Amino acid sequence: MGHVSLPSLANRRCAGHCILSALKGRGPHMTAKSMNPAGKMPLRWGGESARIAVIPGDGIGKEVTPEAVKVLRAVTAPARRPLEFVEFDWGADKYLKEGVTLPAGAVEILRDEFDAILFGALGDPRVPSNKHAADILLGLRFKLDLYVNARPVELLHNRLTPLRDRGERDIRMMVFRENTEGLYVGMGGFFKKETADEIAIQEDVNSRKGVERIIRYAYDYARENGLKRVCMSDKSNAMTFAHDLWQRVFKEVRQEYPKIESRHLYIDTLAMEMVREPSQFDVIVTCNLFGDIVSDLGAQLAGGLGLAPSGNIHPGRTSLFEPVHGSAPNIAGKGIANPFGSVLASAMMLDFLGWKPEAQVLREAVKAALREDIVTPDLGGVKQTVEVGDWLANFAKMAFERT
Ligand code: NAD
Ligand code: IPM
Ligand code: MN
Repeated sequence: MGHVSLPSLANRRCAGHCILSALKGRGPHMTAKSMNPAGKMPLRWGGESARIAVIPGDGIGKEVTPEAVKVLRAVTAPARRPLEFVEFDWGADKYLKEGVTLPAGAVEILRDEFDAILFGALGDPRVPSNKHAADILLGLRFKLDLYVNARPVELLHNRLTPLRDRGERDIRMMVFRENTEGLYVGMGGFFKKETADEIAIQEDVNSRKGVERIIRYAYDYARENGLKRVCMSDKSNAMTFAHDLWQRVFKEVRQEYPKIESRHLYIDTLAMEMVREPSQFDVIVTCNLFGDIVSDLGAQLAGGLGLAPSGNIHPGRTSLFEPVHGSAPNIAGKGIANPFGSVLASAMMLDFLGWKPEAQVLREAVKAALREDIVTPDLGGVKQTVEVGDWLANFAKMAFERT
């Protein structure tokens, strides 16, 4: 894997002048600010290969992401479909050493030179403020305008759900989380900080455009995938401004999809209903914070955080794929992190890139590993992260040799 460190990114920015002529006319987002000494261009603009930026991050992100890359190489090699990986070492170590989180120019490089980003996780006990995660992960979601956070909840083996008498047919839904607004935008502040009279404010920012595009995306997804039911969830009975907007936009947009059964649930009721009867949901759409919470709930219904993938998507632009889980400091460094979430996120990435058969093979590989009990301790197994990755890579390679 190629490797680009922060200082070299900074240098590339200084060297930008010499490459400007080479970039002319290469795509709608190419600007004079683009840095591209090697003349690399994403596949979507006519480049030779799909270019994947790999950001392993912290903790178990560094353990599961290489396994996903290994499996991606295995599944794409026999089919002779080129994928090029470039690794970026952004995370807590870099932040603590150099004070840099998301380097200057990083967003432009990702936007202009890459088709997708494979992301691990960020979070480190040595950075209690979580500043680097906010700058890098939330920064990329906002600055690349990745407004769709798609978090599928799919039970891949009956034994994995903690629910009694529920199986694969009951637990299969897509959670769409608004990913660029809400309580995550970082607007707010302190007044009289660290006094007895302290006030802390966190603003919930909701735009009509932002609400409309995520609700519409959820309906379009349902329609394109033959799914019959969309449930919008908010807390409009208490959040009478922000979620009143969600209500009004939902009522407008739903009328455009008369063949889809539209439903609204307050978020507290949704959490309860997901556990009581998960089979009633096909597509759920909700705001940023509620989507964060119900996607962990959904992940547990389907076997736990170790298996849950996600895509941070802006259709047609560089999008970011990551497991739902975090850096798991409690198991980091032990070699026992479950790589399934990262591998399934890679399958979502391949779908996004148009590599449908290969994406399917990755999902089949994970299902086969579950059947054969090639699993890490979180799923009751004895395998190490690398052993699971090797098994999946071998399955992926064989799958194409078999066909
Ligand atoms: P976490 O997801 O890291 O861990 C929660 C629990 O699930 C832990 O017990 C952990 O061991 C287990 N777990 C998670 N992923 C696993 C895997 N792949 N295999 C086996 N077990 C797994 O959540 P947390 O403990 O609340 O957060 C830890 C750090 O990660 C924090 O700094 C948090 O902010 C960060 N975080 C980052 C992301 C992200 O980068 N997308 C997501 C969630 C949390
Ligand atoms: C997630 C994580 C992040 C979020 C954190 C790390 C800011 O929990 O991706 O689900 O809340 O979005
Ligand atoms: Mn989360």
